[in-house]
Amino acid sequence: MTESMERTGVSRRSFIGGVGVTAGGLMVASGPVLWQQAAKASTVTAEQVHLTFGADPAREVVVSWVTPTSVSKPQVQIGTPSGGFGRTVPAETRTYTDSNNGIETITQHASIEGLHPGTDYVYRIVSDGETQLSSAFRTAPAGRSAFRFTSVGDIACGNTAFSKASLNAAATAASIESFNPVVHLVNGDLSYANSNQLTQPQVWEQYFDNTQLSSANRPWMPTLGNHENEPGNGPQGYLSYQTRFTLPKNHSGDFEGNWYSFQIGSVLFVMLDNNDVCYQIDTGTYLSTGDNQILTGYSGGKQLKWLEQTLHKASTDNTVDWIVAVMHQPAMSTSDADGSDLGIRENWMPLFYKYGVDFVLAGHDHDYERSYLVAGTDSGTVMRPHVVSTNKTSVDSDKGLVHLVIGTGGTKGHDDVYNTGTAGEPTETINVSGTETETEDAPWSAVTDPNTTFPWGLGVFDVDPGRFPGDKTTMTFTYYHTPAATAANPYPAPVEFDTFTATRTRSDGFGFRQRDAK
Ligand SMILES: [Fe+2]
Repeated sequence: MTESMERTGVSRRSFIGGVGVTAGGLMVASGPVLWQQAAKASTVTAEQVHLTFGADPAREVVVSWVTPTSVSKPQVQIGTPSGGFGRTVPAETRTYTDSNNGIETITQHASIEGLHPGTDYVYRIVSDGETQLSSAFRTAPAGRSAFRFTSVGDIACGNTAFSKASLNAAATAASIESFNPVVHLVNGDLSYANSNQLTQPQVWEQYFDNTQLSSANRPWMPTLGNHENEPGNGPQGYLSYQTRFTLPKNHSGDFEGNWYSFQIGSVLFVMLDNNDVCYQIDTGTYLSTGDNQILTGYSGGKQLKWLEQTLHKASTDNTVDWIVAVMHQPAMSTSDADGSDLGIRENWMPLFYKYGVDFVLAGHDHDYERSYLVAGTDSGTVMRPHVVSTNKTSVDSDKGLVHLVIGTGGTKGHDDVYNTGTAGEPTETINVSGTETETEDAPWSAVTDPNTTFPWGLGVFDVDPGRFPGDKTTMTFTYYHTPAATAANPYPAPVEFDTFTATRTRSDGFGFRQRDAK
């Protein structure tokens, strides 16, 4: 697939079926569809389109895109499917210049507020007086509602001309779209631009052009991974990421966009930057700085303070039933690749147990792993979690949390080799400093995926909010394999691999009390 085919939108990203085109150029479903491709103008000057939620996902959505050149009056026109585009929201233009190749990237961001919860909207991107792209989205529901979200990290840019990339980036986006989630969570390591140092902006372009088939239709909420660190591009190397995304505020001053939270229904999502706390470091050198820019401790404790305040507030909020923490490097992993990290356990895990976090989602290792229900730590220096239950099909989230590594988005390499001891028992390699590791038994490891036929996949969560105050609420998780994409079959259908159901007591019961520590 050539770049020109990508830009014109007539490549393998053509729609799968059942899609019609209105006079205004908007693609609308006319039957069963796997996903919906946004329509583009014949001369495309809006590309890399992606949505994010604002602080209130029921009422705020941001449309972001890139223009190859400066444009006049960039804006989004928005309305309802039956009412037309009745409202215009001007876009904010933000730019950055890549430190390695000097290319300037011009991003546009239209922050739309005052939307209605659980409502379908149509939008079109307009600049220089011409409609550039039309698509649609749905706002998140308000209050306790059933909804679905998806999760996977380590996607890469989808163009095999670049390092780390496979064809499965677009297949992952199509898989996400086929599940119709309210939101997709990206568990860090998006484009792998910093693995292609002389072409970082071009790699980002490929990434967004491949994921746009979903991210133009529903918000994709990212976390920072080690591959978002582009030394020379800003103090933490995050200038590209920060310029390209408009994310909910964390009010940290210097570190806006690096970590944040948002709530959908009764689920609070806490999006963290593990580069700030993990011990492991990337090896190698970077062109612009001559080193690999170690970020451990960069926020000076600001992120940790924000996390405690956010979790404490949630613990006293009876609209919050579930807390999902999303990050990149895993606290728990038996993978033979990068493995676990003690810095994450030391900084985050005590707060997760104290305030009753239910799920910890990560990536980084390019494989899938699920822990048993765990709470607190066993003795020892590496903070091994205590296994509460070995039930693999259902867990009581009032009593513990589950770790999930879902780093199977679309990289070329996969890490589905897991450490074991002499008797075949799971063991883990734990990064305890920048250069040292320790090996421990890992009785917490419940499910791994050593099947190299399926190195890719994604996680799907379905929330049932329960029926009345104090009722039980459930979250059913299913991990699907995504088979290898090929030129002949670019969007292979997902295949179920692992599932379980978590149950929790709603926090709005009579005699409401703070969340129990785990
Ligand atoms: Fe990573």
